Amino acid sequence: MLHNQRRRKKIRLFILIISLIFLSFIIMIKGFYLLTTSKTERDLKKLKYNNESIVLIIENKLDKFLINNNLYSKTLEAALVGGQYENQLLEEYLYFPYKEYDSYISQLNNLNLIGYKRNDIEQVFNFLTKDEIDIIIQKEVQIDNLVSYISNDYFNINALDRYLQYKQENNSYAYDEVISRVNMSLDYPFYENTIEVPDPNDILVIVNKYYKLPKDFVPKKLIKIDNKYSYYDYGFQIASTVKDKFKQMANDAEKEGLIIKVTSAYRSYQKQMGIYNGYVKKNGFEAAEMFSARPGYSEHQTGLAIDVISGNNPYSYFQTTKEYKWLKDNAHKYGFILRYPENKSDITGYSFESWHYRYVGEEVAKYIYENNLTFDEYHAMMKNKKTNK
Ligand code: DAL
Ligand code: ZN
Repeated sequence: MLHNQRRRKKIRLFILIISLIFLSFIIMIKGFYLLTTSKTERDLKKLKYNNESIVLIIENKLDKFLINNNLYSKTLEAALVGGQYENQLLEEYLYFPYKEYDSYISQLNNLNLIGYKRNDIEQVFNFLTKDEIDIIIQKEVQIDNLVSYISNDYFNINALDRYLQYKQENNSYAYDEVISRVNMSLDYPFYENTIEVPDPNDILVIVNKYYKLPKDFVPKKLIKIDNKYSYYDYGFQIASTVKDKFKQMANDAEKEGLIIKVTSAYRSYQKQMGIYNGYVKKNGFEAAEMFSARPGYSEHQTGLAIDVISGNNPYSYFQTTKEYKWLKDNAHKYGFILRYPENKSDITGYSFESWHYRYVGEEVAKYIYENNLTFDEYHAMMKNKKTNK
Protein backbone atom coordinates (compact mmCIF):
# COMPACT_ATOMS: atom_id res chain seq x y z
CA MET A 1 0.00 0.00 0.00
CA LEU A 2 2.60 2.46 1.23
CA HIS A 3 4.95 1.22 -1.40
CA ASN A 4 2.39 1.95 -4.15
CA GLN A 5 1.73 5.49 -2.91
CA ARG A 6 5.41 6.27 -2.97
CA ARG A 7 5.73 4.92 -6.45
CA ARG A 8 2.91 7.12 -7.79
CA LYS A 9 4.45 10.19 -6.18
CA LYS A 10 7.72 9.43 -7.91
CA ILE A 11 6.02 9.13 -11.30
CA ARG A 12 4.20 12.44 -10.81
CA LEU A 13 7.44 14.15 -9.87
CA PHE A 14 9.11 12.69 -12.90
CA ILE A 15 6.34 13.96 -15.25
CA LEU A 16 6.54 17.39 -13.66
CA ILE A 17 10.30 17.60 -14.16
CA ILE A 18 10.06 16.48 -17.80
CA SER A 19 7.32 19.05 -18.43
CA LEU A 20 9.40 21.79 -16.87
CA ILE A 21 12.40 20.88 -18.99
CA PHE A 22 10.24 20.85 -22.11
CA LEU A 23 8.66 24.19 -21.25
CA SER A 24 11.99 25.88 -20.58
CA PHE A 25 13.27 24.47 -23.84
CA ILE A 26 10.34 26.05 -25.71
CA ILE A 27 10.89 29.34 -23.89
CA MET A 28 14.58 29.23 -24.80
CA ILE A 29 13.80 28.66 -28.50
CA LYS A 30 11.18 31.39 -28.54
CA GLY A 31 13.62 33.70 -26.74
CA PHE A 32 16.31 32.93 -29.27
CA TYR A 33 13.84 33.56 -32.11
CA LEU A 34 12.79 36.87 -30.59
CA LEU A 35 16.42 37.87 -30.08
CA THR A 36 17.50 36.98 -33.61
CA THR A 37 14.46 38.15 -35.68
CA SER A 38 12.99 41.58 -36.02
CA LYS A 39 9.32 42.39 -35.65
CA THR A 40 9.18 43.12 -39.41
CA GLU A 41 10.42 39.67 -40.24
CA ARG A 42 7.98 38.14 -37.85
CA ASP A 43 5.08 40.09 -39.34
CA LEU A 44 6.06 39.05 -42.86
CA LYS A 45 6.33 35.49 -41.75
CA LYS A 46 2.87 35.73 -40.27
CA LEU A 47 1.64 36.87 -43.69
CA LYS A 48 3.13 33.59 -45.01
CA TYR A 49 6.14 34.92 -46.91
CA ASN A 50 9.02 32.48 -47.03
CA ASN A 51 12.44 33.30 -45.54
CA GLU A 52 14.11 33.88 -48.86
CA SER A 53 11.50 36.41 -49.96
CA ILE A 54 11.45 38.18 -46.58
CA VAL A 55 15.08 39.26 -47.01
CA LEU A 56 14.26 40.57 -50.48
CA ILE A 57 11.05 42.29 -49.37
CA ILE A 58 13.04 44.22 -46.79
CA GLU A 59 15.82 44.92 -49.28
CA ASN A 60 13.26 46.35 -51.75
CA LYS A 61 11.57 48.31 -48.96
CA LEU A 62 8.22 46.64 -49.51
CA ASP A 63 7.82 45.46 -45.93
CA LYS A 64 5.83 48.35 -44.48
CA PHE A 65 3.46 48.45 -47.42
CA LEU A 66 2.78 44.71 -47.32
CA ILE A 67 2.42 44.53 -43.56
CA ASN A 68 0.21 47.61 -43.24
CA ASN A 69 -2.08 46.36 -45.98
CA ASN A 70 -1.94 42.78 -44.85
CA LEU A 71 -0.87 41.56 -48.29
CA TYR A 72 0.45 38.18 -49.25
CA SER A 73 1.11 37.34 -52.89
CA LYS A 74 2.71 34.16 -54.10
CA THR A 75 3.32 35.86 -57.44
CA LEU A 76 5.29 38.63 -55.75
CA GLU A 77 7.16 36.07 -53.68
CA ALA A 78 8.09 34.12 -56.83
CA ALA A 79 9.14 37.29 -58.68
CA LEU A 80 11.45 38.27 -55.82
CA VAL A 81 12.94 34.85 -55.22
CA GLY A 82 13.35 34.24 -58.96
CA GLY A 83 15.24 37.56 -59.35
CA GLN A 84 12.61 38.80 -61.80
CA TYR A 85 11.00 41.46 -59.65
CA GLU A 86 10.31 44.72 -61.50
CA ASN A 87 9.47 47.61 -59.24
CA GLN A 88 6.87 49.18 -61.52
CA LEU A 89 4.96 45.89 -61.71
CA LEU A 90 4.34 45.53 -57.99
CA GLU A 91 0.61 46.09 -58.35
CA GLU A 92 0.41 43.51 -61.11
CA TYR A 93 2.21 40.89 -59.02
CA LEU A 94 -0.28 41.55 -56.26
CA TYR A 95 -3.21 41.37 -58.68
CA PHE A 96 -2.38 38.22 -60.66
CA PRO A 97 -2.77 34.88 -58.88
CA TYR A 98 0.29 32.66 -59.16
CA LYS A 99 0.50 29.98 -61.85
CA GLU A 100 2.63 26.92 -61.28
CA TYR A 101 5.12 27.05 -64.12
CA ASP A 102 8.65 28.36 -64.47
CA SER A 103 8.20 31.05 -67.08
CA TYR A 104 5.06 32.57 -65.53
CA ILE A 105 6.73 35.65 -64.03
CA SER A 106 8.83 36.35 -67.10
CA GLN A 107 5.69 36.09 -69.24
CA LEU A 108 3.94 38.57 -66.97
CA ASN A 109 6.93 40.93 -67.18
CA ASN A 110 7.27 40.58 -70.95
CA LEU A 111 3.59 41.08 -71.73
CA ASN A 112 3.75 44.30 -69.76
CA LEU A 113 6.99 45.33 -71.42
CA ILE A 114 5.47 44.89 -74.89
CA GLY A 115 2.64 47.21 -73.84
CA TYR A 116 -0.26 45.02 -72.76
CA LYS A 117 -2.32 46.38 -69.90
CA ARG A 118 -3.81 44.42 -67.02
CA ASN A 119 -7.12 43.55 -68.72
CA ASP A 120 -5.43 42.21 -71.82
CA ILE A 121 -2.89 40.26 -69.81
CA GLU A 122 -5.70 38.75 -67.81
CA GLN A 123 -7.41 37.59 -71.01
CA VAL A 124 -4.14 36.28 -72.42
CA PHE A 125 -3.74 34.05 -69.37
CA ASN A 126 -7.39 33.16 -69.56
CA PHE A 127 -7.56 32.05 -73.17
CA LEU A 128 -4.06 30.95 -74.11
CA THR A 129 -1.80 28.13 -73.05
CA LYS A 130 1.72 28.73 -71.79
CA ASP A 131 3.22 27.89 -75.20
CA GLU A 132 0.75 30.09 -77.03
CA ILE A 133 1.66 33.01 -74.74
CA ASP A 134 5.31 32.51 -75.69
CA ILE A 135 4.33 32.95 -79.34
CA ILE A 136 2.51 36.20 -78.53
CA ILE A 137 5.61 37.44 -76.68
CA GLN A 138 7.91 36.51 -79.56
CA LYS A 139 6.02 39.04 -81.69
CA GLU A 140 7.60 41.70 -79.44
CA VAL A 141 4.85 44.19 -80.22
CA GLN A 142 1.40 44.63 -78.84
CA ILE A 143 -1.27 43.24 -81.19
CA ASP A 144 -4.30 45.51 -81.62
CA ASN A 145 -7.48 43.95 -80.28
CA LEU A 146 -5.69 40.74 -79.39
CA VAL A 147 -8.57 39.73 -77.12
CA SER A 148 -11.04 39.84 -80.04
CA TYR A 149 -8.99 37.09 -81.67
CA ILE A 150 -8.04 34.92 -78.73
CA SER A 151 -11.50 34.84 -77.18
CA ASN A 152 -12.90 33.25 -80.34
CA ASP A 153 -13.60 29.52 -79.92
CA TYR A 154 -11.90 28.72 -83.20
CA PHE A 155 -8.78 30.87 -82.77
CA ASN A 156 -5.69 29.02 -83.93
CA ILE A 157 -2.39 30.53 -82.77
CA ASN A 158 -0.56 29.13 -85.81
CA ALA A 159 -2.72 31.25 -88.08
CA LEU A 160 -2.27 34.47 -86.09
CA ASP A 161 -0.17 36.28 -88.70
CA ARG A 162 -2.68 35.36 -91.37
CA TYR A 163 -5.58 36.66 -89.26
CA LEU A 164 -3.77 39.96 -88.74
CA GLN A 165 -2.96 40.37 -92.40
CA TYR A 166 -6.45 39.39 -93.53
CA LYS A 167 -8.02 41.85 -91.10
CA GLN A 168 -5.73 44.58 -92.38
CA GLU A 169 -6.73 43.87 -95.96
CA ASN A 170 -10.44 43.34 -95.21
CA ASN A 171 -11.22 45.71 -92.39
CA SER A 172 -14.98 45.46 -92.91
CA TYR A 173 -14.98 41.86 -91.71
CA ALA A 174 -15.65 41.37 -88.02
CA TYR A 175 -12.99 39.50 -86.06
CA ASP A 176 -15.12 36.34 -85.98
CA GLU A 177 -15.45 36.42 -89.75
CA VAL A 178 -11.73 36.97 -90.19
CA ILE A 179 -11.01 33.90 -88.09
CA SER A 180 -13.65 31.79 -89.80
CA ARG A 181 -12.51 32.78 -93.28
CA VAL A 182 -8.81 32.31 -92.63
CA ASN A 183 -9.55 28.95 -91.01
CA MET A 184 -11.20 27.99 -94.31
CA SER A 185 -8.04 29.17 -96.18
CA LEU A 186 -10.04 31.92 -97.90
CA ASP A 187 -7.12 34.30 -97.41
CA TYR A 188 -5.43 32.28 -100.16
CA PRO A 189 -6.69 32.35 -103.75
CA PHE A 190 -8.67 29.24 -104.75
CA TYR A 191 -6.47 26.29 -105.69
CA GLU A 192 -3.42 27.78 -103.95
CA ASN A 193 -1.89 26.20 -100.83
CA THR A 194 -3.95 23.08 -101.41
CA ILE A 195 -3.75 20.07 -99.14
CA GLU A 196 -4.29 16.43 -100.02
CA VAL A 197 -6.89 14.98 -97.66
CA PRO A 198 -5.45 12.33 -95.34
CA ASP A 199 -8.51 10.06 -95.22
CA PRO A 200 -10.55 10.22 -98.43
CA ASN A 201 -12.86 7.40 -97.26
CA ASP A 202 -14.02 9.34 -94.20
CA ILE A 203 -17.69 10.31 -94.57
CA LEU A 204 -16.74 13.76 -93.29
CA VAL A 205 -13.93 14.24 -95.80
CA ILE A 206 -13.73 17.80 -97.09
CA VAL A 207 -13.16 18.31 -100.79
CA ASN A 208 -13.14 21.87 -102.05
CA LYS A 209 -10.83 24.35 -103.78
CA TYR A 210 -8.23 23.90 -101.01
CA TYR A 211 -8.56 20.20 -100.23
CA LYS A 212 -7.94 17.64 -102.93
CA LEU A 213 -8.20 13.88 -103.33
CA PRO A 214 -5.33 11.69 -104.51
CA LYS A 215 -5.44 11.28 -108.28
CA ASP A 216 -5.86 7.52 -108.05
CA PHE A 217 -8.40 7.55 -105.23
CA VAL A 218 -11.43 5.33 -105.71
CA PRO A 219 -13.89 4.93 -102.81
CA LYS A 220 -13.52 1.62 -100.98
CA LYS A 221 -17.02 0.33 -101.65
CA LEU A 222 -18.98 1.62 -104.60
CA ILE A 223 -22.45 0.29 -105.32
CA LYS A 224 -24.66 0.71 -108.34
CA ILE A 225 -27.86 2.72 -107.84
CA ASP A 226 -31.02 0.84 -108.91
CA ASN A 227 -32.39 2.02 -112.22
CA LYS A 228 -35.58 3.08 -110.47
CA TYR A 229 -33.61 5.89 -108.82
CA SER A 230 -31.54 6.88 -111.84
CA TYR A 231 -32.54 9.42 -114.39
CA TYR A 232 -31.08 7.34 -117.17
CA ASP A 233 -29.67 3.89 -117.37
CA TYR A 234 -26.04 4.85 -116.95
CA GLY A 235 -25.21 2.66 -113.99
CA PHE A 236 -24.44 5.42 -111.51
CA GLN A 237 -22.33 4.31 -108.62
CA ILE A 238 -22.37 5.67 -105.09
CA ALA A 239 -20.51 4.90 -101.82
CA SER A 240 -22.28 1.97 -100.15
CA THR A 241 -23.03 3.99 -96.97
CA VAL A 242 -25.07 6.44 -98.99
CA LYS A 243 -27.16 4.12 -101.12
CA ASP A 244 -29.84 3.12 -98.61
CA LYS A 245 -30.12 6.63 -97.27
CA PHE A 246 -30.75 7.99 -100.73
CA LYS A 247 -33.33 5.30 -101.48
CA GLN A 248 -35.13 6.04 -98.24
CA MET A 249 -35.14 9.75 -99.04
CA ALA A 250 -36.39 9.24 -102.61
CA ASN A 251 -39.08 6.81 -101.40
CA ASP A 252 -40.34 9.20 -98.74
CA ALA A 253 -40.44 11.99 -101.30
CA GLU A 254 -42.35 9.73 -103.67
CA LYS A 255 -45.02 9.19 -101.00
CA GLU A 256 -45.62 12.92 -101.27
CA GLY A 257 -45.86 12.73 -105.05
CA LEU A 258 -42.32 13.93 -105.69
CA ILE A 259 -39.82 12.34 -108.04
CA ILE A 260 -36.15 12.60 -107.18
CA LYS A 261 -33.68 10.84 -109.44
CA VAL A 262 -29.92 10.75 -109.70
CA THR A 263 -28.26 12.36 -112.71
CA SER A 264 -24.70 12.04 -111.49
CA ALA A 265 -23.00 10.31 -108.57
CA TYR A 266 -19.47 8.89 -108.34
CA ARG A 267 -17.10 10.32 -110.94
CA SER A 268 -13.52 9.14 -111.32
CA TYR A 269 -10.61 11.59 -111.57
CA GLN A 270 -10.44 10.98 -115.32
CA LYS A 271 -14.18 11.42 -115.77
CA GLN A 272 -14.06 14.74 -113.89
CA MET A 273 -11.14 15.86 -116.03
CA GLY A 274 -13.23 15.24 -119.16
CA ILE A 275 -16.22 17.10 -117.70
CA TYR A 276 -14.18 20.06 -116.48
CA ASN A 277 -12.20 20.43 -119.71
CA GLY A 278 -15.41 20.13 -121.70
CA TYR A 279 -17.00 22.99 -119.73
CA VAL A 280 -13.91 25.18 -120.05
CA LYS A 281 -14.02 24.67 -123.81
CA LYS A 282 -17.73 25.32 -124.03
CA ASN A 283 -18.24 28.09 -121.45
CA GLY A 284 -14.78 29.54 -120.96
CA PHE A 285 -12.42 29.15 -118.01
CA GLU A 286 -13.96 31.71 -115.63
CA ALA A 287 -17.53 30.50 -116.07
CA ALA A 288 -16.55 26.83 -115.81
CA GLU A 289 -14.67 27.47 -112.57
CA MET A 290 -17.92 28.60 -110.94
CA PHE A 291 -19.77 25.34 -111.51
CA SER A 292 -17.25 22.62 -112.28
CA ALA A 293 -14.47 21.32 -110.07
CA ARG A 294 -11.00 20.66 -111.40
CA PRO A 295 -10.08 16.95 -111.41
CA GLY A 296 -9.13 15.83 -107.90
CA TYR A 297 -11.21 18.61 -106.37
CA SER A 298 -14.68 17.23 -106.99
CA GLU A 299 -16.81 15.75 -104.23
CA HIS A 300 -18.18 13.39 -106.86
CA GLN A 301 -14.88 11.48 -106.68
CA THR A 302 -15.68 10.57 -103.04
CA GLY A 303 -18.87 8.71 -103.99
CA LEU A 304 -20.63 10.74 -101.29
CA ALA A 305 -22.15 13.35 -103.59
CA ILE A 306 -25.13 13.11 -105.92
CA ASP A 307 -26.77 15.42 -108.41
CA VAL A 308 -30.53 15.05 -108.63
CA ILE A 309 -33.26 15.94 -111.05
CA SER A 310 -37.05 15.96 -110.85
CA GLY A 311 -38.17 15.13 -114.35
CA ASN A 312 -37.24 15.90 -117.92
CA ASN A 313 -35.81 19.23 -116.87
CA PRO A 314 -32.32 20.67 -117.07
CA TYR A 315 -30.22 20.92 -113.90
CA SER A 316 -30.70 24.63 -113.63
CA TYR A 317 -34.47 24.20 -113.47
CA PHE A 318 -34.34 22.12 -110.30
CA GLN A 319 -34.43 25.09 -107.92
CA THR A 320 -37.95 25.97 -109.13
CA THR A 321 -39.38 22.51 -108.37
CA LYS A 322 -41.38 21.16 -105.45
CA GLU A 323 -38.70 18.48 -105.17
CA TYR A 324 -36.08 21.12 -104.41
CA LYS A 325 -38.29 22.74 -101.79
CA TRP A 326 -38.82 19.37 -100.13
CA LEU A 327 -35.12 18.41 -100.24
CA LYS A 328 -34.04 21.76 -98.87
CA ASP A 329 -35.94 21.10 -95.66
CA ASN A 330 -35.78 17.33 -95.47
CA ALA A 331 -32.47 16.13 -96.91
CA HIS A 332 -30.72 16.55 -93.54
CA LYS A 333 -33.04 13.99 -91.96
CA TYR A 334 -31.40 11.40 -94.22
CA GLY A 335 -27.87 12.72 -93.70
CA PHE A 336 -27.61 14.89 -96.83
CA ILE A 337 -26.77 18.59 -97.11
CA LEU A 338 -27.23 21.09 -99.88
CA ARG A 339 -23.54 21.53 -100.59
CA TYR A 340 -23.46 24.78 -102.60
CA PRO A 341 -26.24 26.98 -101.19
CA GLU A 342 -27.46 30.32 -102.47
CA ASN A 343 -25.40 33.39 -101.52
CA LYS A 344 -22.48 31.36 -100.23
CA SER A 345 -20.32 31.40 -103.36
CA ASP A 346 -17.67 33.49 -101.63
CA ILE A 347 -17.19 30.56 -99.25
CA THR A 348 -17.82 27.50 -101.41
CA GLY A 349 -16.25 28.93 -104.58
CA TYR A 350 -19.23 27.70 -106.60
CA SER A 351 -22.51 29.21 -107.77
CA PHE A 352 -25.71 27.97 -106.16
CA GLU A 353 -26.30 24.31 -107.10
CA SER A 354 -29.81 23.33 -106.07
CA TRP A 355 -29.19 19.79 -107.36
CA HIS A 356 -25.93 18.82 -105.61
CA TYR A 357 -26.29 16.98 -102.27
CA ARG A 358 -23.55 15.58 -100.12
CA TYR A 359 -23.87 12.80 -97.58
CA VAL A 360 -22.34 13.62 -94.16
CA GLY A 361 -24.51 11.51 -91.83
CA GLU A 362 -27.64 12.58 -90.01
CA GLU A 363 -26.11 14.23 -86.97
CA VAL A 364 -23.77 16.52 -88.89
CA ALA A 365 -26.38 17.23 -91.57
CA LYS A 366 -28.83 18.34 -88.87
CA TYR A 367 -26.22 20.63 -87.28
CA ILE A 368 -25.30 22.17 -90.62
CA TYR A 369 -28.96 22.65 -91.55
CA GLU A 370 -29.94 24.17 -88.21
CA ASN A 371 -26.99 26.53 -88.13
CA ASN A 372 -27.25 27.51 -91.77
CA LEU A 373 -23.63 26.58 -92.46
CA THR A 374 -21.76 25.37 -95.46
CA PHE A 375 -19.75 22.19 -95.09
CA ASP A 376 -16.61 24.31 -95.54
CA GLU A 377 -17.52 26.36 -92.47
CA TYR A 378 -18.43 23.26 -90.48
CA HIS A 379 -15.13 21.58 -91.34
CA ALA A 380 -13.07 24.64 -90.36
CA MET A 381 -14.96 24.90 -87.08
CA MET A 382 -14.36 21.30 -86.12
CA LYS A 383 -10.71 21.46 -87.15
CA ASN A 384 -9.98 24.48 -84.97
CA LYS A 385 -12.37 23.98 -82.10
CA LYS A 386 -10.71 24.38 -78.72
CA THR A 387 -11.26 21.25 -76.73
CA ASN A 388 -9.53 21.78 -73.41
CA LYS A 389 -9.63 25.47 -72.57
N1 DAL B 1 -20.29 20.81 -109.73
C1 DAL B 1 -19.43 20.43 -108.65
C2 DAL B 1 -18.84 21.61 -108.00
C3 DAL B 1 -18.33 19.51 -109.13
O1 DAL B 1 -17.93 19.63 -110.27
O2 DAL B 1 -17.90 18.71 -108.33
ZN1 ZN C 1 -22.62 17.75 -108.31
